[in-house]
Amino acid sequence: MENDKSLRHLAIIMDGNGRWALNKDLPRTAGHAAGEHSLSKTIDWAIANKLEWLTVYAFSTENWLRSEEEVDFLMFFNRDILIRRREEFNQKGVRFKFLGDLTDSKIPEENKDLMKETEEITKNNNTLNLVFAFNYGSHNEIHNAVLNLHNENINENLELGDIESNFYNFFQYPEVPFPDALLRTAGEKRISNFLLYQLSYSELIFIDALWPDVNEDILDDVLLEFNKRNRTYGRN
Ligand code: IPE
Ligand code: IPE
Ligand code: MG
Repeated sequence: MENDKSLRHLAIIMDGNGRWALNKDLPRTAGHAAGEHSLSKTIDWAIANKLEWLTVYAFSTENWLRSEEEVDFLMFFNRDILIRRREEFNQKGVRFKFLGDLTDSKIPEENKDLMKETEEITKNNNTLNLVFAFNYGSHNEIHNAVLNLHNENINENLELGDIESNFYNFFQYPEVPFPDALLRTAGEKRISNFLLYQLSYSELIFIDALWPDVNEDILDDVLLEFNKRNRTYGRN
């Protein structure tokens, strides 16, 4: 499958791990563990198809509402993946960025340290930018941007007219381009507080496959679907 290169940035809501496990009579956490394979296949696929940015939703600001056991597993799992796999991803030229509120005291210190170290270790890589949305919520991101703007305005007195063109600069990573496409797996057709500002003109693609079942063939079909879309941005 050829990417005609108009897909520079793909964002993914990796959903359906719990249902995948339930279908196999396994605990929900086994579904999260199985999702690692799909993530690493997706990274390889993104590199092979010359994507520049891949943003994946790993843990939302609402996911703290899950059972303590599941939240603890997800925190452990995030650390574990970084410890076991980051050197391999580093060798492949992946540059990590962790998008979300990492100052939150609910996140274990070890996780924070590993995420910061991983960003540092991979900061000069340029094959694929991997944005890992962790403790991420769009409302939280937008509220923080407004706070940053407010603080800046106290110091700099920005003209109101500049705000529209400048607003994205107050986000955590203003250098990240808006996604060309959003993929959500597992059949749900909602955004779940993901990139609400940035998805304004993204192509939305919803598929039934559960995240742990995602493979290269499914991703090729997603690319095919994206290439069929006609992006008009309000023009005719
Ligand atoms: C997505 O799978 C992973 C996270 C939200 C961390 P889910 O755990 O939401 O799986 P389902 O939706 O319950 O099947
Ligand atoms: C969105 O999935 C969050 C992640 C994939 C990390 P959820 O499963 O948490 O979202 P809802 O509950 O279906 O909206
Ligand atoms: Mg879900």
